[in-house]
Amino acid sequence: MSTVRKTREQLRSWRWFGPSDTRAFSHRSRMQQVGVRREEVMGRPIIGIVNTWSEISTCHLHLRERAENVKRGILAAGGFPIELPAMSLGEVMVKPTTMLYRNFLAMECEELLRSHPVDGAVLMGGCDKTTPGLLLGAISMDIPAIYLPAGPQLNGHFKGVKVGVGTHTRKFYDELRSGRITDQDWIDLEAAMCRSHGTCNTMGTASTMTSIAEVLGFCLPGASSIPADDAAHPRMASQVGERIVQMVWEDLKPSRILSRASVANAAATYMALGGSTNCAVHLIAMARRAGAELTLDMLDQRARDIRVLVNLMPSGDYLMEDFYFAGGLPALLKRIEQHLDLSALTVTGRTLGENIAGAKVNEGGDDIIRDAAHPISERGALAVLYGNLAPAGAVIKPAAADPKLLRHTGPAVVFEDMPDMMKRIDDPALPVDANSVLVLKNAGPQGGPGFPEWGNLPIPKKVLATGVRDMVRVSDARMSGTHYGTCVLHVAPEAFVGGPLALVRDGDLIELDVDARRLELKVSDEELARRRAAWTPPPPRFERGYGRMFSAHVTQAPEGCDFDFLQSPGTLPEPDIY
Ligand code: FES
Repeated sequence: MSTVRKTREQLRSWRWFGPSDTRAFSHRSRMQQVGVRREEVMGRPIIGIVNTWSEISTCHLHLRERAENVKRGILAAGGFPIELPAMSLGEVMVKPTTMLYRNFLAMECEELLRSHPVDGAVLMGGCDKTTPGLLLGAISMDIPAIYLPAGPQLNGHFKGVKVGVGTHTRKFYDELRSGRITDQDWIDLEAAMCRSHGTCNTMGTASTMTSIAEVLGFCLPGASSIPADDAAHPRMASQVGERIVQMVWEDLKPSRILSRASVANAAATYMALGGSTNCAVHLIAMARRAGAELTLDMLDQRARDIRVLVNLMPSGDYLMEDFYFAGGLPALLKRIEQHLDLSALTVTGRTLGENIAGAKVNEGGDDIIRDAAHPISERGALAVLYGNLAPAGAVIKPAAADPKLLRHTGPAVVFEDMPDMMKRIDDPALPVDANSVLVLKNAGPQGGPGFPEWGNLPIPKKVLATGVRDMVRVSDARMSGTHYGTCVLHVAPEAFVGGPLALVRDGDLIELDVDARRLELKVSDEELARRRAAWTPPPPRFERGYGRMFSAHVTQAPEGCDFDFLQSPGTLPEPDIY
């Protein structure tokens, strides 16, 4: 536990409200205008609640109510809450992709905190990009911050099957397209898919990233596993409010929490979770902001060392509600503690080891949170591939792929971009069979634009009709963490900037060998040089606005897709107050 105790004059907000000059007079006067007494803001920790609630961010609909629980805790601990709305980034509704705006949210969070009189922050998010977006901003601002995960949805059920959001959308869609379920079944599924508040109930990107936030040290122990509609969730929210006030007095900032050790812990946990491939992008971005080295190769090494122990969809059988009852993230961390640096500091003021000292897998939970002797798969959560098709790297999630396809060579069926794919994928004349390798170009950070989750290309109808449910797919896109399949993703450099993926043509042989970590285009160097000479860069995606800034500054997937001017550690000076 930290022994630092700030004085009230050391509070950041004191600069706004403490002095007896005209500026502070105006600040206090404006608070009095809204019914707040001067004593409520002078010398008390002021907590900014950065809330990504909105009516169109369906996973966060309960966060407006949760903010009230947080405020209760803040007031009880002697702080003063101020809610700061931020971009909501609902994964399903925001187009072309929320990933275009992750860095926007990061900048918004950082600047909201910098420009306002706040001493500490509660970060309220959960839907995929909101977790890394808020954390990136808080890391760079570096005032005490605690993360409040929205919590997963309750288990879904349909026709006797446990339904995983996203995972079963694609499964049932393939059944529909192959005529195995009716149109009415499909309509009924729509109503059954999401049955409560909260984020996707699989180990998709949302649950992966909230778990990562927790193991990095930014959440109260166990917080990321609590279902959104469990009564424990508002209790946790109130506790978050209490704790952030104490963190302000203790000056417990992200720079004391995020370290090489906590990043290494997150990498290990990612693998045991069987987490989303998106984590490889976000975790690298967060580590770089903190100056902690993390590379794709380091992640690959962790994936070789640590098998997937969490039996959750899309790699396994269960859902987040089951995980919670099995003991949740603390129980998993206890199971992999030999891979963790237990001395890493967390928002509790205690170490990770102290936080999980009493954690255990609950009775009946051993099939959900496995031990090292019984992994859910011998294949890892991640493999990093290199070759002439991906000189800077590509990733695949072997645990969610058909084992028979992990070593495969087949002819490419190339789609130049998403509209091309949508137009032709189900064309009966498409020269494709189960042996083909589907290739999608121009879906990376620049090309998408924004690095959309298009990497799980649908299986062509005529191949589905033969009973096939998985094929090798290669793209510079991402894939939803709820999806599965033999999908090679994040190929870098991307096609749009002239990566070798841009040179692939129909019929070229592509070799995938996951054990050898290889992705090769079986075309001679001379022929590739000829094609490169004939290649012309596509016109820019954006002429103006945020998109233009994004295109000018976003980095490639192996570097975390952060903006180049935000990547380095360090904070900006405090604003002048005149
Ligand atoms: Fe929000 Fe999946 S759509 S977490």
